[in-house]
Amino acid sequence: MFEKQVYVERRLKLRKKIKSGLVLILGNTESPMNYRSNTYRFRQDSNFLYFFGLDIPGLVGVIDIEDGKDCLYGTDFEIDDVIWMGPQPTLKELGERVGILSTHPLKELSSTINRAIRHGRKIHFLPPYRAENILLLEQLLGISQSMVKTYASVELIKAIVSLRSIKEDVEIAEIEKACAVGYQMHVTAMKMSKPGITEQAITGAIEGVAIAHGYMPSFPIILSQNGETLHNHDHSQTLTSGRLLLVDSGAEIDSHYASDFTRTIPVDGRFTERQKEIYNIVLAANNKAIEMAKPGIPYIDVHRASARVIAEGLINLGLMKGNPDEAVANGAHALFFPHGLGHMMGLDVHDMEDLGENFVGYDDEISRADQFGIAYLRLGRRLQKGFVITVEPGIYFIPALIQKWKSEKINESFINYPAVEAYIGFGGIRIEDDILITENGSRIIGKRVPVTVNEIEETMRG
Ligand code: GLY
Ligand code: MN
Repeated sequence: MFEKQVYVERRLKLRKKIKSGLVLILGNTESPMNYRSNTYRFRQDSNFLYFFGLDIPGLVGVIDIEDGKDCLYGTDFEIDDVIWMGPQPTLKELGERVGILSTHPLKELSSTINRAIRHGRKIHFLPPYRAENILLLEQLLGISQSMVKTYASVELIKAIVSLRSIKEDVEIAEIEKACAVGYQMHVTAMKMSKPGITEQAITGAIEGVAIAHGYMPSFPIILSQNGETLHNHDHSQTLTSGRLLLVDSGAEIDSHYASDFTRTIPVDGRFTERQKEIYNIVLAANNKAIEMAKPGIPYIDVHRASARVIAEGLINLGLMKGNPDEAVANGAHALFFPHGLGHMMGLDVHDMEDLGENFVGYDDEISRADQFGIAYLRLGRRLQKGFVITVEPGIYFIPALIQKWKSEKINESFINYPAVEAYIGFGGIRIEDDILITENGSRIIGKRVPVTVNEIEETMRG
């Protein structure tokens, strides 16, 4: 965790953005796998981590806007806990670590909330995503669990998005560490890949790279020869000569900052000519986006420019036809690139997605497009210095989508369907990097994972 001043200042900044009331930030609790004391690895809530820093279950933070006090609610450990868990800090000591003097037993939280409600004060809370916290909010606020989400404070969501979107220098240093481990994960996959090894063996090894550092993957690893399935968590195949392997993975380090990279590599260490042609179009789309990314440019425009590179490349290969600008305007490229160019990244790999994608990625000026493909873009608004985002274009040959579009004659004037059908079985290629928006442009965070055809082939040769 950071110095206590970091959390004190963040809470002060939040106070300035909220007019009145109580701000309630719920930490997470332990989650049982199969019985109460056999739990999943604990993951603290990211908003709690951001403002209260403590990576410990069962805590709640309260910021009282009018009386100026920040409070921590929790339960002190008892001797029975200490016997099983070893010496534990008191709640008071935990509070001191993050600059909070006012600590209270968790059982007093409901009287604090009741008092505020009786005085007609607003209780600001965030949209809960865990059942335990939905139920806690139901108990504290008397709102039925099915309705709790709809009462989340938009004022609080917007305030937090505005703070967390701009990464502080201490955060960027943590993301650099997460990227360094992500780099190791990907290079390990490149070195292991060869015909005969299983996808699962590589998945386990790269997960192990994160775990050996005391970290974990920032999301369940996507690793498959069927890269055309965008989020493929099936690792049951054995690698076969001539196929591609798509690896989308990153690390979440002990401070919980994430990395998120995708590389697509040839199973036997050498791309075929046909694979190279498609690969280099995706790489050009990725490079174009990184080149364009700078403060002030809407990311939706960068997405479209990247899509245009893809359309132009596929027209040159004879898989698409017509004018590339018109093809992109009509969404024809989305047959091959049916997702968004990227998302924010920070304490969450899809940063702040729990707060609502439209609050994070869009604003009063730029709203989500409703055309197939670009509608999945998580971040469309203008970039600002200090944003950390992913750039992840791709080209996929998805048999079911190709059949559907062909039979419905979708974008017929831009797609050469017979040529496209010859690519069924090719798989999919995605290339993803993590970038920081700087004063005048952007920079790739950390050392770039081998990305050109030559760099990948050389790494795979070992
Ligand atoms: N890397 C997984 C995702 O961005 O959804
Ligand atoms: Mn991503």
